[in-house]
Amino acid sequence: MSTRGKNHSEWDSISTLYHTVVGQLTIPIAAGLVDWVHETVPLNGPGANAMDNGCGTGIVCSLLKSNYPTLPVLATDFSSAMIDEVLRNAEESGWKHFQARVLDSRNLDSVETESVTHLFTTFMICLAPDPDQIVSEMHRVLQQNGILGLAVWARPNFGFFEAAWIEACHELDPTYEAPTLMDPEWIEPENVRRGLAKAGFKSVEIKAEQQSWDWENVNAVSTYFFDGHNPGNTKWHDSWTERGQSIDKVRPLFERKLEEAYGQSDGSLKGPVPFCLAIARK
Ligand SMILES: C[S@@+](CC[C@H](N)C(=O)[O-])C[C@H]1O[C@@H](n2cnc3c(N)ncnc32)[C@H](O)[C@@H]1O
Repeated sequence: MSTRGKNHSEWDSISTLYHTVVGQLTIPIAAGLVDWVHETVPLNGPGANAMDNGCGTGIVCSLLKSNYPTLPVLATDFSSAMIDEVLRNAEESGWKHFQARVLDSRNLDSVETESVTHLFTTFMICLAPDPDQIVSEMHRVLQQNGILGLAVWARPNFGFFEAAWIEACHELDPTYEAPTLMDPEWIEPENVRRGLAKAGFKSVEIKAEQQSWDWENVNAVSTYFFDGHNPGNTKWHDSWTERGQSIDKVRPLFERKLEEAYGQSDGSLKGPVPFCLAIARK
């Protein structure tokens, strides 16, 4: 069952690329989170239901539906293009007990108070406006004793592209300052712990780890970074062109820096991306 709405966000234009490119990095991380949540409060226990808040293309939903096909799952995102991708996947895969709906996480008004037993949110609150409001809404919709499973990036500038981008820009314009992409209050492990406790969550547990991001060659990374429409990358490009600088000039320098940092002998690239997982109870 689905509820479609109309909403356009800066995430719409990455929706088709997201699953293949970013999914390769986030699927193993999300799988670890789903397993951790299940070990703590079983996803196949009586009365269990799940919500994937800021679901994107539905990576957590896919994991839940593959492992627990009868678990009722609600997926929400404020990008209608993302919800369209999830619904396409749901139809193709024949998921039952599944709903997806366009909804802003800052106001989950169509989700009943204390109705969700297992609430997931991956790589959303670190990038979204008003993360405190989002966390407060998640606390509202979670049942007493329900569990939150959360994943965020663990560096204010994501990490993987940061040094290559800034060093490449500085070769052309030493005074350039890249804008910070994420709110440190919702990425650094101790801040995440504090933020969840402040919102009323208890039994907060945190894991800070790294995932390797592997690319076929530098061209693939560069195409994603410059042409992929990821809102974070776009913010950096805009901060560069607003200074009258050219993307065409910085691009080869950026590629060289990436190869220096991550290049492998077979032409592929491989580098670490730090992330933080949390589980917490209401
Ligand atoms: C980096 S993607 C993560 C998607 C997915 N959770 C995953 O792990 O692959 C961030 C998602 O959060 C969504 N998002 C950002 N702010 C939101 C908000 N206020 N309400 C609902 N969705 C939001 C975006 O549309 C995007 O799909």
